[in-house]
Amino acid sequence: MYQTKGRITKQAHVEIPAGTYEEQHGREGFFGPVSHLYHRHPPTGWTRIEGECRPQAFYTNRVETSADRPTVLLENADVRLGVARRRGATPYFERNADGDELWFAHVGGGVLETDYGQLRFGVGDYLVIPRGTTYRFVGTDECFFFVIQSLGTRLRQPDRGLLGQYSLYDATAIRTPDLVPVTTQAEEYEVRVQREGKLTRIFYPFHPLDVTGWKGDLYPWALNIADFCPVMSHRAHLPPSVHVTLVGEGFVVCSFVPRPLEEAPGAQRVPFYHRNIDYDEVLFYHAGDFFSRDNITAGMLTLHPHGVHHGPHPKAIEKSWSKTHTDEYAVMVDTRRPLHVTDAARAVEWPEYHLSWR
Ligand SMILES: [Fe+2]
Repeated sequence: MYQTKGRITKQAHVEIPAGTYEEQHGREGFFGPVSHLYHRHPPTGWTRIEGECRPQAFYTNRVETSADRPTVLLENADVRLGVARRRGATPYFERNADGDELWFAHVGGGVLETDYGQLRFGVGDYLVIPRGTTYRFVGTDECFFFVIQSLGTRLRQPDRGLLGQYSLYDATAIRTPDLVPVTTQAEEYEVRVQREGKLTRIFYPFHPLDVTGWKGDLYPWALNIADFCPVMSHRAHLPPSVHVTLVGEGFVVCSFVPRPLEEAPGAQRVPFYHRNIDYDEVLFYHAGDFFSRDNITAGMLTLHPHGVHHGPHPKAIEKSWSKTHTDEYAVMVDTRRPLHVTDAARAVEWPEYHLSWR
């Protein structure tokens, strides 16, 4: 039962009543029942927050990673988010029995060796590694990854619906491994298997990636974030869900890439205030100019837990009127269940982030 009260606008995010700040209060992400509220003050204008539910930001560049599995920063029952560094040939092979993995190459490049062959990768690549795949990174330089472990059903591509199957990214933009023959050169090869977060080490007297042929529809693949084609409307700001790149159980991964800003008169050009009540929102800032947030630099990670508002920083609204396009690359992960912050993340937190809207 759609209702309207007081001073409103005909189209959400367009011609917002003068002197008001529009907030979107919605359920089920951006798909469920929704109302737009016109406030006299920005809902992020708090003076302080006491308690755990507050926006948090982390400097992931400062995380002390081990050579082993990715360092987990945020986690829940569906997903673990973390970072990893790899340099040169990893002296062992890896296999995740807990879930599919998505490695996003923030810095560096090289080769991902897998049961299915070799996949060259570079900056901005998403590497999808199905649960159970044996693999090893051979970085040509120091690589830094944002790593997502999907603990539920497999990671899959989003339903394109009305947009058509070649929208968001064309199947041709997906790269798959090339089989390269390997020879046994060492006396022993180690495979480290992660199950329920614990590692088991298995040793072989031969090279474990000894596949000479394969067929089927399960394999690792790569997609570069620059090949993601954003959907937008020049007349009204669309919700971030239009940028969904991959879907897991209990979470989605979205790509923010450079795009023109909304140009129609009166159209809001920055994300609207919202309290994302059914999802926690995580953003990993990869590259470019993150103009909607002050003091955010590449390699930072923010968490906006559900229940507390977020939206553009005050200066961003002003700045948006002189800009014609966004120039940022970022990876967003929205999770259905609340995320828990690990000690590794707390060690690199920017404690004043929640006051940065003042
Ligand atoms: Fe948001």
